[in-house]
Amino acid sequence: MLELRSLHYQAATAPEPVLRGASVALEPGAPALVAGRSGSGKTTLLDLICGLADPSSGSILWKGEALNARQRRWLCGLVFQFPERHFLGLSVGQELKLGQRRLPSEQVEAVLAQVGLQGVPLQQAPERLSGGQQRRLALAVQLLRNPQVLLLDEPTAGLDWSVRDEVLQLLGALSRDRVLLVVTHEPELFDGLVEPGRAWRLEEGLLAQMR
Ligand SMILES: Nc1ncnc2c1ncn2[C@@H]1O[C@H](COP(=O)(O)OP(=O)(O)OP(=O)(O)O)[C@@H](O)[C@H]1O
Ligand SMILES: [Mg+2]
Repeated sequence: MLELRSLHYQAATAPEPVLRGASVALEPGAPALVAGRSGSGKTTLLDLICGLADPSSGSILWKGEALNARQRRWLCGLVFQFPERHFLGLSVGQELKLGQRRLPSEQVEAVLAQVGLQGVPLQQAPERLSGGQQRRLALAVQLLRNPQVLLLDEPTAGLDWSVRDEVLQLLGALSRDRVLLVVTHEPELFDGLVEPGRAWRLEEGLLAQMR
């Protein structure tokens, strides 16, 4: 179980805190969702969970143990809101293999098929993929790391309806044996995926259960 305990966060340059005591406990087995309007702090929340930032106060626990930022970076995989800003590899193939010493090509192909990118040329530059394909590539990179906590920032942005359904199905499957958290400003798109009781609204720096 991943537990956020009373997270407060104020960026050094910001006049107001973004989080003012956000708390939630997330179990594996089914997707969890945090909805909130633009600027409510959704991306900030994911940055804190996955160890890209530290809360001003409060703690983040995994199986009852508080983790530092480095431990959280190991535990979590984050698919960024704008994945195109974060590609490091010169090619799709390089991007998939970053940080992995040995990665059998069958495994790479299986993950590409899982995200609906089968047959994409591995020599191609990531930037030349479409927005939706880039998002799925970023997900594939995280799946190859097989993190116990998978965090997705606006995962349906840039996806058309035909692939959106496939992505939702995939997220359902991926959540069975890990904690999977989606943040979005369009929670209605996830109505069929997220069970009541697993959805929260981020408002005024606090998390409140929806429905
Ligand atoms: N590095 C920073 N310095 C100062 N303020 C910041 C910084 N990062 C974020 N903020 C502020 O924190 C608030 C929350 O931003 P955040 O990006 O987490 O919102 P969001 O819910 O993800 O929005 P969106 O739906 O537009 O992606 C905003 O008011 C933003 O201006
Ligand atoms: Mg955001």
